[in-house]
Amino acid sequence: MHGVIISNLKKYVEEKLGEEAWDTLRDKAGLPGKAFIPISMYPDSDLEDLLAAAVEVTGQGRDEILKDFGAWVIPPLMKMYRSFIPDDWDAVTFLKNIDDRIHERVVRMKDANAKPPHINVSEISPGLLEVEYQSHRDMSYLALGCVYGVAEYYGQKAALMEEKRVVGTHRTFIMRISAAEQTQRDAV
Ligand code: HEM
Repeated sequence: MHGVIISNLKKYVEEKLGEEAWDTLRDKAGLPGKAFIPISMYPDSDLEDLLAAAVEVTGQGRDEILKDFGAWVIPPLMKMYRSFIPDDWDAVTFLKNIDDRIHERVVRMKDANAKPPHINVSEISPGLLEVEYQSHRDMSYLALGCVYGVAEYYGQKAALMEEKRVVGTHRTFIMRISAAEQTQRDAV
């Protein structure tokens, strides 16, 4: 797992739970004092153990934490990898290009043998996306949170219309991306 994700998890935990919380989580995860830097790779089990510790400390579910973290992490990732993102992209274009133009480049740049998730995004009709997640890591709710984060980053709103649990860790989300005020109108 790329260090940029775990180092941002540290910032997220400190912002949500306070400075000392990260030490508590690392201790509970059996990783006392371990440093996570954005330019290194770490075993997937480090993230999994930190998540399990976060579940224990907060009482929140793993999926709930992943979703919230996914939305939170998009602005810092956008800032770090701004040069990868053409100025004329909108939320839908960004999401449709996430695998080929972002994940593959960011992850393989660091480790040619890395296994980034497969997130296949297709536009079924204008603004209606099918977001297909496949990865051995079973972090589909991180993907869901990231979609919310991307929509918000571009001043739009995402709404989950349907969730299909395909098989194993493979999930499909049907999501609508719309102008922020349009979603508010629809909700009335
Ligand atoms: C600027 C935007 C983004 C950057 C730079 C970025 C980068 C990364 C990196 C470096 C990883 C670690 C992967 C590995 O080590 O194999 C990762 C994981 C992940 N990303 Fe992104 N990402 C971005 C946006 C998104 C978006 C929009 C989605 C969903 C639509 C998404 C979904 C995920 C998921 C689910 C994982 C967890 C790994 C897994 O399940 O296998 N990311 N991302």
